[in-house]
Amino acid sequence: MDIIERINTIKKEKNAIILAHNYQPEEIQNIADFVGDSLELCIIAKETTADIIVFCGVDFMAETAKILNKDKKVLIPEIKDVECPMAHQLPPKIILDAKKEHPNAKVVIYVNTLASAKAIADSTCTSANADKVINSFEEDKILFGPDNNLGYFVSKRTDKEIICIPKDGGCYVHQKFKKEDVIAAKKQYPNAVCIAHPECAPEVQDLADAVLSTGGMVKFVLETPAEEIIIGTECDMIVRLNHELKKAGKTKKLIPLRKDAICDPMKQMTLEKVEKCLINEEYEITLDEEVIEQAKKSIERMLNI
Ligand code: 13P
Ligand code: SF4
Repeated sequence: MDIIERINTIKKEKNAIILAHNYQPEEIQNIADFVGDSLELCIIAKETTADIIVFCGVDFMAETAKILNKDKKVLIPEIKDVECPMAHQLPPKIILDAKKEHPNAKVVIYVNTLASAKAIADSTCTSANADKVINSFEEDKILFGPDNNLGYFVSKRTDKEIICIPKDGGCYVHQKFKKEDVIAAKKQYPNAVCIAHPECAPEVQDLADAVLSTGGMVKFVLETPAEEIIIGTECDMIVRLNHELKKAGKTKKLIPLRKDAICDPMKQMTLEKVEKCLINEEYEITLDEEVIEQAKKSIERMLNI
């Protein structure tokens, strides 16, 4: 049996499911039961009947799966170097200090945060639903973090006052994209449309033809009449998009906005590690019960919208 057959056999024996984010390497996307954006993965994690969830992604994503499934075993095939740096930019203290300063504001935080931060937020959001979540509150002041660029994105889609916490939060991968990259790519591919993730800088968002979550990008690429699309997000998103195009019997030219937009923490997973993870049932995500209960409320507030 080759490694893929072995993974599939043990997965069946143990009633396990493999979830992978859109930025996972191709070999992982190929063996996953479900590949998706943060919101889609939250929904699958909530609804699965599997006994074991193997999460191929970064730390906060596996934690979110655990929060939604406290009685299930949630495993991550690697624990070293899988931290999303942005998720560590909003520790609870920053939220608590901001709440003291703005007692009437609601706290909406990106799912790209630690469980301890989610536990003291009013709601989480993803890039696919941030505007909907914010507009679902009656309060007109929102403390929002940690991504300032997503804060810019939502501030253009709401009348509410968005106060970003911290003042300089952001993703090191998406911060690489500059407006010059969009200008140069559009010059080189004059017939192409450019799509960008809301974690990109405001000037990149403003120049893009559409600003979308990774799940939104899948829909856009399948539906647009454009034959050439410049992709302003992490490079392996193109693997996912090509899979979806192939499934739909379509071919389009997908051009990375930058070839160096690589999220290193996402690249720690390999087939060997997934197999080992299933055999040894490691590394298990464990969280404090009280944190799980509190954090679950803010994730469910989002999922119920
Ligand atoms: P999505 O929710 O669009 O998948 O984004 C998650 C992420 O980490 C982007 O950097
Ligand atoms: Fe975190 Fe950025 Fe990687 Fe997304 S792309 S997981 S925000 S470091």
